[in-house]
Amino acid sequence: MFTHLGQRQGNLIEQMDIEDADCKQLEQTYADFYTLNRLISRWNRVYAKYIRPHAKKIQRQGNIFKVCDVGCGGGDIAFLLFKWLKKDGINAHIIGIDIDDRAIAWAKANRKVLAETAQVNNKKKTVGLFFECISTTELARRNYKVDLVINNHVLHHIPFDKINPFLTECAVLGTKVICNDLERSSLAYTLFSLCLFPLRFRSSFIYQDGRTSLKKSFRENELDTLSSEGWKVERLFPFRLLLIYEGEHGLA
Ligand SMILES: C[S@@+](CC[C@H](N)C(=O)[O-])C[C@H]1O[C@@H](n2cnc3c(N)ncnc32)[C@H](O)[C@@H]1O
Repeated sequence: MFTHLGQRQGNLIEQMDIEDADCKQLEQTYADFYTLNRLISRWNRVYAKYIRPHAKKIQRQGNIFKVCDVGCGGGDIAFLLFKWLKKDGINAHIIGIDIDDRAIAWAKANRKVLAETAQVNNKKKTVGLFFECISTTELARRNYKVDLVINNHVLHHIPFDKINPFLTECAVLGTKVICNDLERSSLAYTLFSLCLFPLRFRSSFIYQDGRTSLKKSFRENELDTLSSEGWKVERLFPFRLLLIYEGEHGLA
């Protein structure tokens, strides 16, 4: 159960990324992300500190708050975010994207929010939650723009040499970017293994993939070295790292 996580093991492959992964287990993994993320990902904190102030500013300017969740998986974070914004009276247009069509099919079927029309500045605007199987490269090519790009547990999935281009594309898409990921730590690995062992998420890949993810994830100094000007790294309890970009117009 105790493993020393000195070196990052970026070449490991998570079960959910395998092309012929068991369908039932994969679908259960998308479903379990909702519970797991509520336990460990701290988006409620990120929402209160960064997202809500930014969204309110966009709202005051008379605009719909546009968000892109990159690598949305089963769409749980995008879904939660939409609910929180709605509760705060903020009209949002959120698109969850993923390069895995199995994830998008699951999100479309299980995280439905009916699109509505909102009257903004005497213009009708569509608000709601949408999902699309598309890459950041293609969105950037289409000149798609949002007020905020988020991603959760995605950075460690990306091949090392593709991380910089990925971050650049995120910063092209959004005036503000928040990447939320695990922080590699032997203690986190042991605690995750011990705490989740009784639950095990037996019918999904959560337990095994979570442990693999911790081996693939970054340390604060590694993310710092990787990111360029305009980006900052912040630690978030417990064992999380935020990589944040605030573009010219992105500061809340
Ligand atoms: C661990 S899952 C996280 C899913 C979701 N964000 C969550 O936290 O519930 C990582 C997801 O990132 C997706 N992904 C990996 N690389 C990507 C990329 N370059 N662009 C978009 N999605 C990507 C994978 O297909 C996978 O669905």
